[in-house]
Amino acid sequence: MTIRNFIKFIEGWLGKLNFEEGLLHGNTASRIKGITVCWMATEKTIASAVKRRHNLVIVHEDLLFPPGYASSDSANLTEKPGIVSAKRIALLQENSISVLRLHSLTDRHFVLDTLSDILSLGEPLVKKGLQRVYEIKPVAMEKFAADIRKKLGVSHVRVMGNPSKKVKRIGGLWGGVGLSINAGFINNILAYKIDTAVAGEVDEYTMRAFSDMGIGMVEIGHEKSEEPGLMHFADTLKEKLKNMPVHYSGDKESWRLL
Ligand SMILES: [Fe+2]
Ligand SMILES: [Fe+2]
Repeated sequence: MTIRNFIKFIEGWLGKLNFEEGLLHGNTASRIKGITVCWMATEKTIASAVKRRHNLVIVHEDLLFPPGYASSDSANLTEKPGIVSAKRIALLQENSISVLRLHSLTDRHFVLDTLSDILSLGEPLVKKGLQRVYEIKPVAMEKFAADIRKKLGVSHVRVMGNPSKKVKRIGGLWGGVGLSINAGFINNILAYKIDTAVAGEVDEYTMRAFSDMGIGMVEIGHEKSEEPGLMHFADTLKEKLKNMPVHYSGDKESWRLL
């Protein structure tokens, strides 16, 4: 199967690719030998594809750094690629690997609902585009956060809010939508009068906004919050393609607590 035909297959299955999705590196005429699915095309996930002789990497996030959403003017990148981008592209070229980005398609069909299933949040009260709001039987913040940590099998989550405060109406801010660059999206979720947010990754702008509103928060981690859905996507893809090798390549957290 060529990458061109694979994109047709994906669009027939999940819907049209949007403006930020599609081939980020390589050639649509290449014949696919194997597919590595990952959250981001880092040195480690590219190496994992090379080891398995996979020549297509499907990423959820941008390949480049600075990424497409960052202002290129501030770094004067109009003429040359970023330093990290150049390193990743050289690695891909050396190993004849193509990179296809599937972002909102995998969010919509896999990432959001796989995570809420794992966290047993039940049927959403609001399910509109990427917006998710849930209502659960009231539980104290401390127990709610500890249960999330347990269900995901992670060593820590970041928590905001009074430990004994009851959690009832939850806004889902999976992945990076809790970052203040997505403040418009966060504002729409606040309009549903949530008392708690469960987020992938937040910054301190968002945290200060939540504390002014008296809203509690559990932050899981950007990659950690999207990984279960991407693994689910890779498993489903493997079933659908039958004879094509498909592997999900994860990465450990890049930082540690001291
Ligand atoms: Fe996402
Ligand atoms: Fe993301």
